[in-house]
Amino acid sequence: MSPEKLIKEAIIAQSRAKANFSNFKVGSAILTKDDKVIYGCNIESAAYPSTMCAERVAIYSAISQNITNFKSIAIISPSSAKPCGPCRQIIHEYLGNIPIYISNEKNTKEFETYFIKDLLPYPFG
Ligand code: THU
Repeated sequence: MSPEKLIKEAIIAQSRAKANFSNFKVGSAILTKDDKVIYGCNIESAAYPSTMCAERVAIYSAISQNITNFKSIAIISPSSAKPCGPCRQIIHEYLGNIPIYISNEKNTKEFETYFIKDLLPYPFG
């Protein structure tokens, strides 16, 4: 599957985001080596710290389904935001150094590719 197609899958995930407090909807889509897609969206809570980021929702969902053959991940947000610190740590620990495609819902043909080795140098663990 092309990065552009995976980005479109992440936009589907983004449409499911529950972002009533920040109004900042994030979507992620993890591609497996056998072409499965695992979706994640941010889910906010009135008890603010209970909020969970889109990337970690997708990663935790995959792992809990015994899916670990990860190939790449796409992350979509209005500002093409790169993953927050805790998500970088979890990506490092559980996805490894796979391509991370970052884009936004307005301009899906333009995306940037990152690797966690660059986003999280000198990681813990
Ligand atoms: N958010 C993510 O989903 N991923 C990130 O890497 C950073 C932030 C979400 C959390 C919250 O629901 C909203 O974006 C604003 O911070």
